[in-house]
Amino acid sequence: MHIPTAFASLLLLPLALCAPPSPPNYGYPPTQAITKLTQGGYKFALTIDQKQWSNLSQVMTEDIYYDSSALGAGYGGLAVGLDQVRTVLEETAPEGIYWEHLVTNLYLEKLNTPTNASSITYITVSRWDPSALHDITKTYRIYYRCDDVWLLQDGNWKLSHSIVRNTGPRVEAPYFGSISMSQE
Ligand SMILES: *[C@@H]1O[C@H](CO)[C@@H](O)[C@H](O)[C@H]1NC(C)=O
Ligand SMILES: *[C@@H]1O[C@H](CO)[C@@H](O)[C@H](O)[C@H]1NC(C)=O
Repeated sequence: MHIPTAFASLLLLPLALCAPPSPPNYGYPPTQAITKLTQGGYKFALTIDQKQWSNLSQVMTEDIYYDSSALGAGYGGLAVGLDQVRTVLEETAPEGIYWEHLVTNLYLEKLNTPTNASSITYITVSRWDPSALHDITKTYRIYYRCDDVWLLQDGNWKLSHSIVRNTGPRVEAPYFGSISMSQE
């Protein structure tokens, strides 16, 4: 039976509709986006751990929304805007205090647009007050998870929105409080 060409291509149409959608093209390969976002996360930690407060605008947006109140009073809270976040960070890690944000498992969940990404990150934060190593309000460790939105601005991925949750049951005392000083 002879099938006219036009009719034959109509028969093929449903096949074309069933083809898997091609991945969105945001102008650069996803691997590059993942690398850049991971570097953004590491730079964020480096900047605050080194207390480079004047560099915060390189790693967070001016209108940052940061909610770590789930960590509990004394350990977390809500801060909105770069100035407020800076004030809280400076108060938490003044001169003489050591701290470290160990950023791991930075999972790029979704590239929402070419300049907006959602990620999930695990962080272990340790804070040490050398004059109060056995006081859990001053020397502590917290394991937490962040649900974040990052924006690409001036070539850097900057934190725009962050919701922080404890992944462990509660804040930990790195020295367990009961070990006598002579054993350390
Ligand atoms: C802070 O910014 C200055 C100037 O851009 C740069 O030299 C320095 O390495 C930055 N510090 C961090 C921790 O990124
Ligand atoms: C980034 O994308 C998320 C998810 O779509 C959205 O909720 C958020 O408002 C966006 N942020 C900006 C600044 O566009």
